[in-house]
Amino acid sequence: MQDRHQLEALDRLFDHFNAAGVDHLVISGDLSSNADQGDWRIVKEKLAAHGLYHWEKSTVIAGNHDVINLEEEMRFYNALNPLPLLRKRAFDRKLTDFSLFFQELITGEEGGSKAFPFVKIINFPSVRIAITALNSVYPWYPAENPLGARGLITSGQLRALSLEHVLASLRECFVIGLCHHAYRVYGTDSLIDQAFDWTMELKNREEFLVAMKVIKAKLVLHGHFHRFQSYSVDGITFINGGSFRYSPQRYSELLIGREGDFEQKFITLP
Ligand SMILES: [Fe+2]
Repeated sequence: MQDRHQLEALDRLFDHFNAAGVDHLVISGDLSSNADQGDWRIVKEKLAAHGLYHWEKSTVIAGNHDVINLEEEMRFYNALNPLPLLRKRAFDRKLTDFSLFFQELITGEEGGSKAFPFVKIINFPSVRIAITALNSVYPWYPAENPLGARGLITSGQLRALSLEHVLASLRECFVIGLCHHAYRVYGTDSLIDQAFDWTMELKNREEFLVAMKVIKAKLVLHGHFHRFQSYSVDGITFINGGSFRYSPQRYSELLIGREGDFEQKFITLP
């Protein structure tokens, strides 16, 4: 995200959000393509420059490309064959780095590094929204996660959502789930696509779906695939906000009504 045209396009998009009076912005991960903190910084600075870098204005989660530098993983692995435990530790550190980097948007306060899962409850005049964010990025493993693009949501995170005090705080809220990976894996019905799709999938998507039902989520927002897509599974609407890199004038807009009704559309700027 170093390219001048991309930076201008980001300014245009954020200007538009402000002009349109957007209440809250959700960025569903993959801010960088090679786990580069410089890319995170650009997003942070651009949000700040447009007055959007505030807990109640924006939410950001990590994507696999923010945490895993595939080329580096492979190079180190081939040269040193490091122990899985060491690699897992390096992964956890990078995810913590991300959460600390964007801490103001996650906890809204200083201190505390355990970012996921987190629940953000925002009171708007007409509706109270709860954004329930989970980390679905899963470490690179040579056989099991060869592209670093396969996802998993740890059972600890899923369990945390069903704790009584969490469920109590979500009552009376319009609940939105958020993670980086998609529930729906297949982009097409072609067998050749399906043969490769497992490398991009959310491994425990059925467990995730159950957790979303437990918290009574009406919507789940995600990213990962570069498609603008909305689909429904067991009464829950999933929305993939697409890709800024491939379509920098396009985004997903969500209007939520007082009665828990909502309307979603993809908008393209002129
Ligand atoms: Fe991704």
